[in-house]
Amino acid sequence: MEKMQKLHFIISVAMALFIAVLLSASSTNLVSASNTPRPFKKHHLHYYVQLDTRSPGISLKFIPPINTTLSANFGAGTLFALNVTKDVEPTSKRLGTVRGYTVETSYLGFPDSALLEVAMVEYDDGKYNGTLQLQGLASQQLTELAVKGGSGSFRGVHGYLVVTLVVDHLPTRTFRHDVTFFVKMHS
Ligand SMILES: *[C@@H]1O[C@H](CO)[C@@H](O)[C@H](O)[C@H]1NC(C)=O
Ligand SMILES: *[C@@H]1O[C@H](CO)[C@@H](O)[C@H](O)[C@H]1NC(C)=O
Ligand SMILES: *[C@@H]1O[C@H](CO)[C@@H](O)[C@H](O)[C@H]1NC(C)=O
Repeated sequence: MEKMQKLHFIISVAMALFIAVLLSASSTNLVSASNTPRPFKKHHLHYYVQLDTRSPGISLKFIPPINTTLSANFGAGTLFALNVTKDVEPTSKRLGTVRGYTVETSYLGFPDSALLEVAMVEYDDGKYNGTLQLQGLASQQLTELAVKGGSGSFRGVHGYLVVTLVVDHLPTRTFRHDVTFFVKMHS
């Protein structure tokens, strides 16, 4: 009889532990679900970047060139923090920012400019929310940057983006970013 009671006790302790484990597992699921933005699984994304030369969001004097007599603009750095919008108009819905810098890596000067660009897009359209990490060579004609990863909705992404100047009315310049994501081999 005593043996039966002991067994009964052990079984109820085991059940209680099992339920506790289930509860804690489901509560972590709930917490992580609400903190994790929906993964971006489409192949294309586009948005517009608004440059206003009157705003404090761009500094051409971030880093001066090393020696303009010897090597043109070599070493000159530009720092920027620009608004990202849904449509071409600067007043259209704001989706985030693009922050980064370019450094002149050509010592030959214009038109042989070769700007190394490193930037980060913060994107939040209400459905997808996260960052994209960009790297590449920026030029007047065509700028194609590699998308080297991201966070939030864009965790683990890879791809490229093409920058097109669509409005060139100083003090306003508007760029369109067309992002193409590569299909994930596994996820
Ligand atoms: C970005 O947009 C906000 C309004 O949405 C504006 O106040 C701010 O000046 C803009 N920033 C730049 C760098 O243009
Ligand atoms: C820039 O380079 C030239 C040519 O080598 C040199 O004569 C000059 O002193 C340099 N200027 C500075 C500010 O270093
Ligand atoms: C988007 O993500 C950022 C960074 O994690 C967070 O601060 C922000 O609240 C998120 N926006 C929404 C609408 O959830």
